[in-house]
Amino acid sequence: MSVLVTGGAGFIGTHTAVVLHESGRDVVLLDDLSNSSNEAVNAVRSLTSPDLPFVEADAADQAAVGRAIVEYDVDEVIHFAAYKSVSESVEKPLAYYSNNVGSTIGVVQAMIDHGVSRLVFSSSCTVYGEPDEVPVTETSPTRAVNPYGATKLVCEQLLADIAAVSALDVMLLRYFNPVGAHPSGDIGEDPSGVPTNLVPFLMQVAVGRLDRLNVFGDDYNTPDGSAIRDYIHVMDLADGHVAALDALTANTGCVAVNLGTGKGYSVLEVVAAATEVIGAPIPTEVVGRRAGDVEQIWADPTYAAEILGWRATRSLNEMLADHWRWQQQHPTGHKDSN
Ligand code: NAD
Ligand code: WQD
Repeated sequence: MSVLVTGGAGFIGTHTAVVLHESGRDVVLLDDLSNSSNEAVNAVRSLTSPDLPFVEADAADQAAVGRAIVEYDVDEVIHFAAYKSVSESVEKPLAYYSNNVGSTIGVVQAMIDHGVSRLVFSSSCTVYGEPDEVPVTETSPTRAVNPYGATKLVCEQLLADIAAVSALDVMLLRYFNPVGAHPSGDIGEDPSGVPTNLVPFLMQVAVGRLDRLNVFGDDYNTPDGSAIRDYIHVMDLADGHVAALDALTANTGCVAVNLGTGKGYSVLEVVAAATEVIGAPIPTEVVGRRAGDVEQIWADPTYAAEILGWRATRSLNEMLADHWRWQQQHPTGHKDSN
């Protein structure tokens, strides 16, 4: 029996594949490489097994997913495959709905066709929009504030609807802000083009690829005026997926779970911590707020501890040190691996 990891060549998928392998599971990666590369697959193989199967396919192609399920005797699925850029989703909403909802339908249809019932789905804290109060719990109101977030809410709803009338059991994992990298420095976040997320941008400034970091706003109603997020180490997130698969054997239906640390850091606190970890100043400039940004959000991780027996353990400094190691070893990402 094995676990199918769609989007398995991406940032979170690669790290989760390594941890799943360490947990004793047989892992099959499926990815269309639309935002990743064969080098990422090879890096996973070097950390796991040279024979780790990789299927290059669109997750929306239910026949291709079905063939992978049959060929590798798949009995559980983690569905990471999606487009994830908020700004791009505003420019190309149809592409986002088509890919993110279409791939989820393709995966679920293939699972139902072949009697596979356990699914972990990548959702996001973006489903909470601008929260009324922090920390957010799984019962906090959800709202879409951009097309990307809307695709996550649509997928959550369609999975709940299907789980209600079928054997499908689903964990909707709502990730907060994943950063960091595998401690080996062999895999990490590999954004194409100029990064939009804080830590990848900051690391590219530190490594000399970009001139300076723009801090988007210092006039928020927070202690230092910059916005607050719940950054979580990607290895903690990967552990959370193993715990979610284990918990699915005991839970039926469709359950949403926050994967965050429960602690928020401001942009300026992240910059200060990164400066310490890297040991050199990071050129920054405070500019205006970025449109659509929320002021502050962090998770209440209580339910994850209860239902998954999981809690994030890695510190912000560990996230930044591991991200920095990856960035130094691979200044231009996985293509340095050749
Ligand atoms: P990523 O872009 O690094 O990985 C996604 C992978 O999916 C890529 O390798 C891409 O090539 C692949 N892919 C996209 N569409 C596909 C399709 N139709 N068929 C097959 N493969 C396809 O992104 P990530 O950061 O690893 O995110 C993984 C999941 O987690 C996504 O669903 C994302 O929305 C969600 N998420 C990410 C974050 C974050 O900040 N990184 C936060 C919350 C949720
Ligand atoms: C973090 C903070 C920025 C870049 C996004 C998605 C969300 C989820 C996680 C997928 C904010 C500030 C950033 C920069 C800055 N992804 N910042 N200068 O916006 O919290 O969440 O990724 O599901 O859906 O919206 O993450 O890393 O972009 O920003 O000052 O160059 O850093 O304003 O306060 P965000 P982020």
